[in-house]
Amino acid sequence: EAAAPHTHEKREHWSGQTAFILAAIGSAVGLGNIWRFPGEAYDNGGGAFMIPYVVALLTAGIPILFLENAIGHRFRGSSPLAMRRVHRRAEGVGWFHVAICFVIGLYYTAVIAWALSYFFFSFTLAYKDDPAGFFTGEYLQLGEAGTVSLSFVPHVLIPLAAIWIITIVVLALGLHNGVERLNVIGIPLLVATFGILVVRALTLPGAADGIDALFTPDFSALTDPNVWIAAYGQIFFSLSLAYGVMLTYASYRRRRSNITSPGLVIAFGNSSFEVLAGIGVFATVGFLAHQQDVPVAELDGLAGPILSFVTFPAVIAQMPGGPLFGALFFGSLVVAGLTSLISVMQTISAALQDKFGLHPRGSAVAVGVVSAVLSIIGFGTTTGLYLLDVVDQWSNQLGIVAGAIAMIAAALWFGGRSRELQRHLSAVSTLKLGTWWLVLVNAVSVLLIYMFATKAVSL
Ligand code: PFF
Repeated sequence: EAAAPHTHEKREHWSGQTAFILAAIGSAVGLGNIWRFPGEAYDNGGGAFMIPYVVALLTAGIPILFLENAIGHRFRGSSPLAMRRVHRRAEGVGWFHVAICFVIGLYYTAVIAWALSYFFFSFTLAYKDDPAGFFTGEYLQLGEAGTVSLSFVPHVLIPLAAIWIITIVVLALGLHNGVERLNVIGIPLLVATFGILVVRALTLPGAADGIDALFTPDFSALTDPNVWIAAYGQIFFSLSLAYGVMLTYASYRRRRSNITSPGLVIAFGNSSFEVLAGIGVFATVGFLAHQQDVPVAELDGLAGPILSFVTFPAVIAQMPGGPLFGALFFGSLVVAGLTSLISVMQTISAALQDKFGLHPRGSAVAVGVVSAVLSIIGFGTTTGLYLLDVVDQWSNQLGIVAGAIAMIAAALWFGGRSRELQRHLSAVSTLKLGTWWLVLVNAVSVLLIYMFATKAVSL
């Protein structure tokens, strides 16, 4: 790969715009779309959640995605390097992003490992007799409720190690041959598989009731600030925003490239997939309610890890063609998760390359091995399910908001880069960003500070 003209750096590059878009969608579309979104929507006003969700997408998701892409592209570096170039004292903001990525990587891998196990369990419907007992008992080997210990869970260790090996190999192959290739193959495959799953789900008896349950609006939810916070949180997590991931990925684009139009494709592509996943998941849940002859609202376990690993297996076990459906569902979860995990690990690895001049391969192996060991200690043991919740609260809800505020503050308030970034975004694009973009980003930061304070107080 030749370096772009007028640079002396040997920074790696995407082979083109499509590769960048697919990789960014690969990062965005992940476990958050398939198991986080449906539950969040259902818990926060059902159909009415779509209003704060779309507002959050338009007012925060897209404008902040533009900001993050612009910083990475203009200052050409991983998060710490780019942030230092934004403002000489802002390198720490980048390391904060890297730290959050590190934490996310550890727990994200655990969930992908579970999905990999369940992919294989689906062929024989190993979980069919008692999906709840199977998940926490036979599979995770949790003792009495609440007891956690550091004893290893052999069933989890093997898939966990497998996921780490795949991750290290993909990263070590480099941006072009590893990361890009995984996404260029994985994302179309994922969309096709998920399309089949949704069509199948929609033709199950009871599907319509499930979708009704998801979309029946409870408008009173709109007056609850927590519903709005949940919507903004979902958009941030789902678009991989404020983790330095989108920043790092944009830094691999060639110098003169359009960054606004791809941003729109990434944001709308991610949300379309997410809403589609919500429809598919709830259509399937509608079938379960139909089988048990109860209203959807009376089913338990419609959110969080339980939705995918207990409720879904229960449905799969009762469905005609269940094994195939199950394998496709958990296979999708693995692919969706892997492309997101890779983006997180690439962000960490790129930061070390820029800081210490490491070779991409050495840096990938170092980051991968350290993370693998820690994730095996934290999640290959019976502490996994408990840690999951703690990590989600601190890093996904508090950490990410802090990361976003710090990035905005460094670039726009202290770094004085507002006009420069605005011009940069408009330079090669037909979509010109006006002052409204700056107004939006600044306004959103006020909202983020409010969210951060509310959340911090409640933890
Ligand atoms: N966007 C991913 C998802 O929706 O599952 C999660 C994620 C990936 C968050 C990468 C943060 C990140 F840096």
